[in-house]
Amino acid sequence: MLVAQISDLHIRPHGQLAYGVSETNVFAEHAINALLRLRPAPDLVLVTGDVTDCGLEEEYAIATGLFARLPMPVYCVPGNHDRREAMRAAFSAAGYMPEAGELNFVVETRPLRLIGLDSLVPGESFGALSDATLGFLAKALASAPDVPTLVMLHHPPFRCGIGHMDRVRLLGGVDRLGAIIAAHPQVERILCGHHHRAIQHRFAETLCQVAPSVAHQVDLDLRDEAPSNFVLEPPAFLLHAWIEREGLVTHTSQVDRSPGPFPFILPDDYPGRK
Ligand SMILES: [Fe+2]
Ligand SMILES: [Fe+2]
Repeated sequence: MLVAQISDLHIRPHGQLAYGVSETNVFAEHAINALLRLRPAPDLVLVTGDVTDCGLEEEYAIATGLFARLPMPVYCVPGNHDRREAMRAAFSAAGYMPEAGELNFVVETRPLRLIGLDSLVPGESFGALSDATLGFLAKALASAPDVPTLVMLHHPPFRCGIGHMDRVRLLGGVDRLGAIIAAHPQVERILCGHHHRAIQHRFAETLCQVAPSVAHQVDLDLRDEAPSNFVLEPPAFLLHAWIEREGLVTHTSQVDRSPGPFPFILPDDYPGRK
């Protein structure tokens, strides 16, 4: 089973740039193209929040249009830039979003099972998990304790060292999240976005992975007073491969094509060849 994770598309209305600089709609299109080039094709695609930049209907219409190009199912959790009701409406046809309340869901895929959690706090950049969401997670995990599971939510529940991002991480429900996860060793990964960088951390005895953005990245500045800046480093995404008798292995892949591939061939006259 192959699971692609893209994050933080920040889609804008037609013709508008994010922050006046980032051509997020073009970046998103390139990301879809990159997913379509993958061989083998992923079985499903996860989007770890900030699908849109402002939660506008027009932005969601562009997002659903792009996702419609993918032949496999796409599952999204909301980020702080999304709006819950607009997102529910936009993705209702996909069938996995609940009709009311937070946008939490379970997808009963195998061998990997998927749980999506809503960490959106309306009007805020930081995230929190409500009592209802934490209860949903505990119940979902208790119902299938033997199935390897991916838990996805937008806001990372740990400090990464970049001060301005740490102040808007998951701030509410972190301890309870940790206790629930620690009690369920079937959780293979907690998959997040929001920080616009590839970051890993051991959290509650599992691995928490933050996906880079498929658009702009957050500047790598590990100071508490780091200015809130982004950079146009190469967009990237994660590819989680379930490998028989091994478990889950995660690769990071850049969206844009690079020169190659080239065969590892050594000619007979290769200097230093043994
Ligand atoms: Fe974002
Ligand atoms: Fe975010």
